[in-house]
Formats: sequence, C-alpha cells, structure tokens
Amino acid sequence: MSGVNITTKAGIAAVSYYLPEKRLTNAVLTAEFPEWTVEKIASKTGIRSRGIAGEDEFSSHLATKAAEKLFLEHGVNPESVDYIIVCSQSPDFYMPATACIVHGNLGLSTRVGASDISLGCSGYIYALGLAKGLIESEQVKTVLVLTSDTYSKFINDKDKSVRTIFGDGASATLVTASGQAEELFAFSYGTDGSGGKNLIVPGGGLRPADLIAPNALPAARNLASNGFDLYMDGPEIFNFTLRVVPISVEKILEKASMALKDVDLFIFHQANRYMLEHLRKKLGVEESKFYVSMENSGNTVSSTIPIALSEAKKSGVLTSGMTVMLLGFGVGYSWGGMIVRWSN
Ligand SMILES: CC(C)(COP(=O)(O)OP(=O)(O)OC[C@H]1O[C@@H](n2cnc3c(N)ncnc32)[C@H](O)[C@@H]1OP(=O)(O)O)[C@@H](O)C(=O)NCCC(=O)NCCS
Repeated sequence: MSGVNITTKAGIAAVSYYLPEKRLTNAVLTAEFPEWTVEKIASKTGIRSRGIAGEDEFSSHLATKAAEKLFLEHGVNPESVDYIIVCSQSPDFYMPATACIVHGNLGLSTRVGASDISLGCSGYIYALGLAKGLIESEQVKTVLVLTSDTYSKFINDKDKSVRTIFGDGASATLVTASGQAEELFAFSYGTDGSGGKNLIVPGGGLRPADLIAPNALPAARNLASNGFDLYMDGPEIFNFTLRVVPISVEKILEKASMALKDVDLFIFHQANRYMLEHLRKKLGVEESKFYVSMENSGNTVSSTIPIALSEAKKSGVLTSGMTVMLLGFGVGYSWGGMIVRWSN
C-alpha cells in the first residue's frame, strides 16, 4: 500500500443529460393503439413523451452530446478527464467499445483510459462504484461516467407494452477526487442471472435465444421480427423488483449505519410510475422524499437516475448537504444501490 493516500475520497462534481430531439408522445401511441388512451398511458406509466434516437443517431452520439453539455453547463475542462466509463446495453458496435468512440468524438488526450460496462437499469450505480474505486485507489483523479441507450432501435413497433415505457437518452456525471469527506458510500450490489430471460433482446446477438428465452422470440409473440425484438415480461420484472428492492434498501442502511428516516431523498431507477408507487408504499417512504421524474423522458434505462438527479438539483429539491439513496434494478436481473452525501 506504500504511496497510497487512503484519505482520497470520490464525489460527484456535476451531472448533465441529453435527450434526442425526436419525440414519441402518448398521442402518437394512442393513434396506433386506440385501446390505450393518452391519459391511461400517462396514469399507468407516469410518462407523456419519450426521446427517440434518429436513424443516424446511436449511443455514442447521445453520450458525446451529454458529455459536451456537462463541459458547457458546468465549466468543466475536458483536459481534466482521466478516464471514461460508458454504460450501455445498446452499443453502436460489438467492437470497438462505445467509450473509445466517444473518446474520439470528444477529442480527448491519448493518456485517457476508456472502457464500457454492459448493464441496464442498475448500471449507473455500478459505474459510480467503479469510478470510486479508480479514484480512491489513486489510479486516476477524474472519471467521466456516461450512460447512454437507444432501446427504441431494439423495440418492435407493434409491442405497445415496451414502446410506452422506454425512451432513449444519455447522461454525463463527473466524478472527482473531492477531498477527505466520504461522499459515495454504502454500496450494495446484487445479481440473479436466472431472471435474464425476462428482459432480453433475443435477436441480433451471436447466440440464438430459442433455448434460454423461447417466450421472447418474435414468432411466439405473433410479431413480424425487426431483427432485435426486445422482450419484457412486465409482471415478472414487477415481482422481482418488489422482492429485492426492500432487502437492498435494508442492506444499504445497515452499511451506512442509518435508519430510513435519516435519508433525505430517495432517487430510484425511474422504471414506471405504477411500479415506483408500489415500491414507495411497500418501503413506507413519504411522497415528498421519493423523487419521481420521468414524464418527458420515460424509462431511459441506466440514465434515469442521473437524469432525475439533474432535475432534482435544477428544481431545488436536491440541495447541498442532503443524504440521498440511489438504487437501480432491472435487466440481468441486476440491482445496486448506495448513499450519496450531496455536496454541490
Ligand atoms: C408493465 C406493468 C406496468 C404492467 O402493469 P400490470 O398491472 O401488471 O398490467 P396488466 O397487464 O395486468 O394490466 C392492468 C391494466 O393496466 C393496463 N396497462 C398495462 N400496461 C400499460 C401501459 N404501459 N400503459 C397503459 N396501460 C397499461 C392494462 O391495459 C390493464 O388495464 P385494464 O385494467 O383497464 O384492463 C407492470 O407489470 C410493471 O410495472 N412491470 C415492471 C416493468 C418495468 O418497469 N420494466 C422496466 C425495466 S426495470
């Protein structure tokens, strides 16, 4: 351990996000699926419109725009970045890594490290955990954590259950060596690979999905394939979430030596309003402490938590000194949560 300054701590210096210009409104969905009215979709999902990546717009483009917004909005010098992590499950290519493409787009120095992580709704927490490890082990000083997904390219036009929920988007978070106070802590992770078949893109990969997820195949759903055909078993995901999230919350509180009442704000993965409301009631958290912000972005996968953080900060709900619990859960199954002591 010689030469390691164990007092270096990582913290979140800035968060920005980017949504594609093209929008998918409930009115457009209702025109295609008249059995679901505009208000029915809004009241069930909490979503009124979603960003949809253009034909020539991919995860690297959205991530690059989010990073550029962060540099501009928060006066960040791109030269201060030592490492980029891109979290995406809809990368531009199998290879190269999206992080390398974004590195090139941003024109960063060749001394900058760049790597991808492939996780969905839990991904932001995992990326923050990795960034903290890189900084607190003094490998680097500043990590740019990017999340970016274009699930709309996976979704079959005829599958209303997922078209109403998911939106495309990206976020950028600057994680820096912030001094000696512990700002990101009580990380708790979890995985249950047996749930992989319940939220899966069965097409477009190297391996046929027929043996592990026969229900996900487009033929089993009477869909003309688009080559990807993202499949979600909503009730299974709902049950999984209600099962693991309360346990995860307990573990985080235990690690942080805190009680539920010590948390000022809960920012969970913005999956959909129906599920978030069930979770809030099950946990016994009052509405004023349970932040929901997805009306104009939808479920943007690993970007929902940073988008909500950014919105909470802009609207004055999130202020300096607050103790915030972040928690993500979904595809994998994978979940993770932690506490942020918000310092800016
Ligand atoms: C998808 C989900 C919202 C469906 O809810 P549900 O209550 O189980 O759905 P059901 O199929 O039993 O339908 C119940 C009612 O809600 C309606 N409904 C279901 N999904 C809807 C949607 N996306 N928009 C509008 N209405 C919807 C149904 O039409 C039905 O209406 P009715 O009572 O008038 O007939 C719910 O299962 C869920 O939250 N799952 C988790 C999925 C998720 O968030 N995944 C993201 C990755 S983490």
